[in-house]
Amino acid sequence: VFTRIDHVGVAVRDLESAIAFYQTTFGLTVVSRESNEEQGVHEAMLIVAAGDPTGIPGGSYVQLLEPSRPDSPVGRFLERNGEGVHHIGYGVADVSAALASIGAAGVRLVDARPRHGSMGASIAFLHPRDVGGVLVELVQAAGGAPTRE
Ligand code: CO
Repeated sequence: VFTRIDHVGVAVRDLESAIAFYQTTFGLTVVSRESNEEQGVHEAMLIVAAGDPTGIPGGSYVQLLEPSRPDSPVGRFLERNGEGVHHIGYGVADVSAALASIGAAGVRLVDARPRHGSMGASIAFLHPRDVGGVLVELVQAAGGAPTRE
């Protein structure tokens, strides 16, 4: 079901200083910045590796997440755990098909239906209690499901 690691989501208290650290220390480049008021998050995507243009779309990234308010999901995560890894985003070819097969395997779905994610992706989260404590995000990168010739 998984095609690659799309991104690692990291909760940070200060987005600007976290971006500066990743740029300076690891040589990464910001390719997208978005704010999602509904989710209460400011985020930046830093590219690690470009995708294969001839294959399933999507590269790999670090996603830095700063809460825009303390009662948001990332705000509560920071309060409980401090800064650190928040979730893993796995690439899938077709997020609806992945949700159906993973749900049929008995894993509870945070998102029963795909929703809009960063950079035009279609995403959905799985319940961490059913994935060994790991918050997993399924990511179908923009470009859509691959079509067979
Ligand atoms: Co994510």
